[in-house]
Amino acid sequence: MPIDPRFGRDTSVPLAANKHLLRWVDKMAELTQPAAIHWVDGSRQENDQLCQQMVESGTFIRLNQDLWPGCYYARSDASDVARVEDRTFICSYSKDNAGPTNNWVHPDEMRRKLKSLFEGAMRGRTMYVLPYSMGPIGSPMSQIGVQLTDSPYAVVNMRIMARTGIEVFREIDRDSKRVVPCMHTVGAPLAPGQADVPWPCNKEKYIVHFPERREIWSYGSGYGGNALLGKKCFALRIASNIARDEGWMAEHMLILGVESPGGEKTYVAAAFPSACGKTNFAMMIPPEGFEGWRVWTVGDDIAWIKPDASGRLRAINPEAGFFGVAPGTSDKTNPNAMATLRRNTVFTNVALTPEGGVWWEGMTDDPPAECIDWQGNRWTPQIARETGAKAAHPNARFTAPASQCPTIDPAWEDPEGVPLSAIIFGGRRATTMPLVFQAFNWGAGVYAGATMGSEMTVAAAGTIGKVRRDPMAMLPFCGYHMGDYFRHWIKMQRSLSETPRVFHVNWFRKDSEGNFIWPGFGQNMRVLKWIVDRAHGRSLSRETPIGWMPRYDDIEWSGLDFPREKFDELQAFDRNAWRTEVLGHEELFIDLHDHLPKELVYERELLICRL
Ligand code: GTP
Ligand code: SPV
Ligand code: MN
Repeated sequence: MPIDPRFGRDTSVPLAANKHLLRWVDKMAELTQPAAIHWVDGSRQENDQLCQQMVESGTFIRLNQDLWPGCYYARSDASDVARVEDRTFICSYSKDNAGPTNNWVHPDEMRRKLKSLFEGAMRGRTMYVLPYSMGPIGSPMSQIGVQLTDSPYAVVNMRIMARTGIEVFREIDRDSKRVVPCMHTVGAPLAPGQADVPWPCNKEKYIVHFPERREIWSYGSGYGGNALLGKKCFALRIASNIARDEGWMAEHMLILGVESPGGEKTYVAAAFPSACGKTNFAMMIPPEGFEGWRVWTVGDDIAWIKPDASGRLRAINPEAGFFGVAPGTSDKTNPNAMATLRRNTVFTNVALTPEGGVWWEGMTDDPPAECIDWQGNRWTPQIARETGAKAAHPNARFTAPASQCPTIDPAWEDPEGVPLSAIIFGGRRATTMPLVFQAFNWGAGVYAGATMGSEMTVAAAGTIGKVRRDPMAMLPFCGYHMGDYFRHWIKMQRSLSETPRVFHVNWFRKDSEGNFIWPGFGQNMRVLKWIVDRAHGRSLSRETPIGWMPRYDDIEWSGLDFPREKFDELQAFDRNAWRTEVLGHEELFIDLHDHLPKELVYERELLICRL
């Protein structure tokens, strides 16, 4: 193997002894033909070298270290700014197993295609052998992957998002766990002497999953969920397959703990679609009127949930960092996120200020007089007024260590996970959906999650604002047939001695003028408290056709002047809107009908009867 001259040591020394791993690395190097191989040890020193190397290659700009210690800034290619759902494939042996909500290609055909794409794809670049654990190393709920990648950007970001390095190699050598092989290339080989670009990628993209073989192949993108393969590809699409086989759940959910002034701690998990408020909810600070209450953060995007020996659901956050939406994040909306991202953070596609700091829309009330926007152009408030140019891309993100979050839960790395008392579903809906309701029981709760709708956001390429059905916020992330996934949810109840209560929330209902009726953010604590009260059987509330709803007086209002009429508007149940809504459910169910559990068909009938 060649030696990478950029490192002071022979990078070809493998850091693991596992024969399968060594053979696979050899085989993949033969296929992709990198100029060097670097086994990632996960050390601080190695990370600093990689960052320095990216500063020299132009991928990274080191931010002003007095203002932003340990922070770096990257601008992606303008064509590589979000997940690409239409280029994402679930290649199960049978098409039926992938279901109508996933793109499918026969695995043999896809392997041929990938082989030709990956052939020589890493020429002129270093291939990094990046071992990672999703979940605390050694936890019975954790899973291990190895990502081979030619993107140092992916390595540095994965080091924040997952547990990486030498300890994971040791786990692999102990041979106690399955390893999910993850191939990744940006698809931009370099000819001898060819100059590199700051953000190499390829116009053609493939994000491919082989669920039976538990394998991931990602081609052409360096951005977020396309390239940090532990996240959506492994922790959701592959893990949802493992979870189904093993009787647990891999969900697109935040996890938080609510602590009352009396010290009662209640954990809840919540599934909101991409860019619909998980990070904000997970880090919420209780508002005025909630003195003595605390909200603790366990995770902001993914939950792995498993029944314990006593039949109670327990959840871990498989990640170690937050890959959060930057725009809209401020000291007012999410001070905990702002504190988390102050150091050791990678910023991608935000704006760069003349002081060597970062800025994005909504970060401060007053924009900087000028800055460099996410595409490298000069930006001023006036240019923005005239052309509508955004300083930050709407899907600009920060990659920050979870351990830096001021409200990180003391139990966030507990290998056994935290006990769940409630599950919350929620979408972005301008109409129809009330602020909050509780489903009558587990089956009705699964129905509420399965029929969830949300207006599309910038987190994925698509038509912004259109309501699409996004079951359990898993439409882009469920690695098998959505109907079977619903059945798995229904069946989970059988292994539980106590089922969590299920709720639906909507922070985004609008009035006739198009303004949000609910102030949201920290004020969501009022809804959360009602949820906790209900989960402990403490609030009477009101039965409606869609579920239990709080009466005005069931909500804690101290510290907020929110009139009864406005609350009624927020909670309004409109029979006609709900007729349309049920027809919308039907649209999804028609596609899934031959795999749909009969429980959901009955739930729909019951809902129609009540309407
Ligand atoms: P992913 O990382 O894509 O999975 O997104 P997420 O669900 O973590 O979304 P995030 O918390 O980053 O919020 C995305 C957008 O929703 C931001 O622009 C927020 O300002 C906005 N948002 C979050 N919570 C609220 C709320 O309670 N009310 C309103 N109106 N907007 C909110
Ligand atoms: C999402 O889109 O739901 C994200 C960001 O959390 S990404 O990791 O890019 O998928
Ligand atoms: Mn997400």
